[in-house]
Amino acid sequence: MNNKILVTGGAGYIGSHICKALSNRGFLPVTYDNLSKGHEWAVKWGPLITGDLHDTEKLCDAILTHQPKAVMHFAASIEVGESVEDPSAYYYNNVAGSLNLVRCMITTGCLNIVFSSTAATYGVPETRLISENHPQMPINPYGMSKLMVERIITDCNEPNGIRHMFLRYFNACGADFENEIGEAHTPESHLIPIVMQAAGGQREKLFIFGDDYDTPDGTCLRDYIHVEDLASAHILALESLLAGAPSNAYNLGTGTGYSVQEIILAAENVTGRAIQRDVHSRRAGDPPILVASSAKARQELGWKPTKSLDEILASAWKWHCKQNNI
Ligand code: UFG
Repeated sequence: MNNKILVTGGAGYIGSHICKALSNRGFLPVTYDNLSKGHEWAVKWGPLITGDLHDTEKLCDAILTHQPKAVMHFAASIEVGESVEDPSAYYYNNVAGSLNLVRCMITTGCLNIVFSSTAATYGVPETRLISENHPQMPINPYGMSKLMVERIITDCNEPNGIRHMFLRYFNACGADFENEIGEAHTPESHLIPIVMQAAGGQREKLFIFGDDYDTPDGTCLRDYIHVEDLASAHILALESLLAGAPSNAYNLGTGTGYSVQEIILAAENVTGRAIQRDVHSRRAGDPPILVASSAKARQELGWKPTKSLDEILASAWKWHCKQNNI
């Protein structure tokens, strides 16, 4: 029986953790990745097709050759700050690339997609916890590009038979507990790996982007979710889609927000090292607070995030030490 899933961006940080979870669950992940940001070493649980989302022939051929039951779509540009500086690159990679993928899926008759979406589609929250029916009004091109892809896929539901699960992540972080894979972006822009670099001495200090927000300590609050908790939600969403559940969207977060300052203090505690920091001006495109209501995923998918902030930081530190021979 064919148990293949086409994973675009399977060589990347989140994609590779999902490939491991898919394999553990008896699926065969077929990675489709242009390796512009992803790593060949992270593809361990199935074949790698080195290809770009814009390469229609290669993409359609990958689907026709492997006949996957579904596509899990992670390949994208992912940095909020960069998207503000170079919006057209985000619309080209994320929107045009995804549109090409959807068109290949329609052409080849592979109609199930689990799409890696984001909390950045909501913009500035109007409520303390963000639920799925919160208005989607992104404040940066990254969030807008992901929202546009949600819209394209939704519009193709009825006429083309595409069925979807949108998973809107809050802040994915941490590493595989067996320490086989982890976060490895170049250059790194995400808070937790940067904190680890500052703790390990690979960076002199980290800059806190703004301490004048309307939050308890003035720094931004985010909902940090361990990548293995994300992975378990993906398996549940995929299996639900394959079992015939209607198209749907789910937030993936823990429901608890931590400030940048709290992350640094917790990381000092977990690593046992002092972390040098300075306050910098705000980073363009950053909402002050992003915290999920994940009630819907808990109720409808039976999902439960289980990893604490200390477990997130400990796994990130362990991975950082392995990468840097610490
Ligand atoms: N931050 C710093 N200093 C740094 C890096 C980050 O203060 O050197 C702050 C940011 O300003 C923000 C917080 O730490 O307040 C988290 O920043 P990240 O860059 O780690 O993550 P973002 O919240 O900007 O974005 C991440 C993903 C997106 C996703 C979003 C959803 O990169 O793909 O979470 O919340 F959409």
